[in-house]
Amino acid sequence: MIRFFDDRRYLIPFRTGLLPQVFTDTLVIGTGVAGLRAAIAAGEHGQVIVLSKGEAKVSNTAMAQGGISGALGEGDSSGDHQRDTLSAGGGLCDEPAVRTILERGPARIEELVAWGMRFDRREDGRLALGTEGAHSHARILHADGDATGRELVRCLWERARQIEGVRVFECCFALDLLTPSDAPGSPVMGAITFHSRFGLQVIWAGATILATGGAGMVYRETTNPSVATGDGIAMAYRAGAQVADMAFVQFHPTTLYLAGAPRALVSEAVRGEGAYLIDQTGHRFMPEAHELGELAPRDVVSSAIVRRLRDRGGTHVFLDVRHLEGFGERFPSIAAVLGSYGLDPARDPIPVNPAAHYTIGGVVSDLGGRSGVPGLYVAGEVASTGLHGANRLASNSLLEGLVMGEIAGRAASEFTSGRDPGGDLPASGWDGGVPGAPVSVVSDIRPSDHGQIDLSDVRSSLRSAMWHNAGIERTAARLADVADMIDFWARYTLDKVFDDPEGWEAQNLLLIGALIARSASWRRESRGCHRCEHAPDPDPRFAAHDIWVRGAEGPTVRPVASLHDRARA
Ligand code: FAD
Ligand code: SIN
Repeated sequence: MIRFFDDRRYLIPFRTGLLPQVFTDTLVIGTGVAGLRAAIAAGEHGQVIVLSKGEAKVSNTAMAQGGISGALGEGDSSGDHQRDTLSAGGGLCDEPAVRTILERGPARIEELVAWGMRFDRREDGRLALGTEGAHSHARILHADGDATGRELVRCLWERARQIEGVRVFECCFALDLLTPSDAPGSPVMGAITFHSRFGLQVIWAGATILATGGAGMVYRETTNPSVATGDGIAMAYRAGAQVADMAFVQFHPTTLYLAGAPRALVSEAVRGEGAYLIDQTGHRFMPEAHELGELAPRDVVSSAIVRRLRDRGGTHVFLDVRHLEGFGERFPSIAAVLGSYGLDPARDPIPVNPAAHYTIGGVVSDLGGRSGVPGLYVAGEVASTGLHGANRLASNSLLEGLVMGEIAGRAASEFTSGRDPGGDLPASGWDGGVPGAPVSVVSDIRPSDHGQIDLSDVRSSLRSAMWHNAGIERTAARLADVADMIDFWARYTLDKVFDDPEGWEAQNLLLIGALIARSASWRRESRGCHRCEHAPDPDPRFAAHDIWVRGAEGPTVRPVASLHDRARA
């Protein structure tokens, strides 16, 4: 049991019968790469509603810089891409997931080209391929230099808008997934949502796809936008889904480090083009830390920076691009951000530090996008398919979102029409398209009389505690401390009923912090991007997945090869 969290099935009290009701075949929560691709696939077979909690074009996807990985270059192959992914994954990748997702990737990329995505090209017209850490070939496709995400969203958005059955509800916050009962295995039948103008409403759906992205906002230092508060993982956990491997949080080594400035990413592709990392004295320290130097895996680079600062002092290191020709043409967005703070990359080394970047753990998903809870599908960063294992290879996540978004969208529409090949799961009970609520769901939480809460203080205390105690370098004592702190804050924050997203996000973030701290405490070893000072090596006893389910005493430990076989158990 995770104290204070497991008692709460829903964040607010409600009666569905008393709220405005909307009906659709498929509900997609999220408008990043996974959500948009899922909506396009599901929209070919039925009515789809897609939600974003802010503006639709605000997402991690929209901020992606480096690009999309794809084994499309001369001499490259899906086999090589799979080998690099497995080797980055620290022994926890699911091999069928790696094979399936990477083999299907090139077809999804070619489809984007056919839909009008403007990837950067060489002078001879062929796709320009960049290099990033731990890739054995140049295989990163990019757009507008370093604005791949913006162009990807434009392309998918235009495609989705051409499909008649797809409706997008912006600024519509999903609070919780609806199930007819709290019993394990109870099917998901849509979500309860809040819109600042229309208030609470119920969206009943034959199938629901979570594509809510990651949870970088649980850390003080993050590359993620403010929407990345882990709502999808929290909602799924409350609805009884399995959540795996939350210890694995990937930290990006190079984000702009200037007081008062957002932690803007300085893409790994910049190191791919030959940038150096130097310390305060101008010393280039990566070659002595790893044979691949600045292109070592991200966890190695992030740790080397932390250690350098600890051993030699200072608050940040520098990315030195002064020797690179044409930086502004290759990386126009990054150059513009630097310029806005008075930095000229041709003259000034760029101050950088690591920041939380990617949530590797998430809702367990099989290769059909199924979560194991009937009617609930997951795709993108919110999901744990086993592709990334214990550490994600750069630029594999946009690819995963494209491939798994398409699969989940198709599977969801097959589920609503009774054609799901995984049809051994019980039907959700909702036959789609028929007006009238299939069941009535009631949540009767009573708020406690604990004192008032300063939510911004709860959030900043949590983010700071997570950064110091569950960050790049971890110890058993610091992880235990942060778990205790979160339990204490949860005692008087979780029993409140809030009436706007700020409060609900704080409650979700506390749950995410609790899951990361517990998962990281369980893993008494260092593996992939999880680094524990008291156990600096991988330990074969932990070569497994830790799965967390609401109400269970502790984690279920599952062998590497069985991660998503059991998503359907
Ligand atoms: P997102 O793109 O994060 O979308 C999440 C969606 O869910 C949003 O629409 C949001 O509004 C919605 N949502 C969330 N909660 C709710 C709620 N409660 N109610 C309603 N809607 C909700 N990966 C790469 O492969 N290559 C790169 O070059 C790359 N660069 C990156 C650069 C940056 C700065 C960052 C932050 C990440 C980068 N990544 C990159 C990672 C990659 O962008 C993400 O993993 C990926 O885009 C996630 O896509 P997604 O569709 O799963 O979620
Ligand atoms: C980057 O451009 O460095 C980010 C790439 C990624 O996170 O995959």
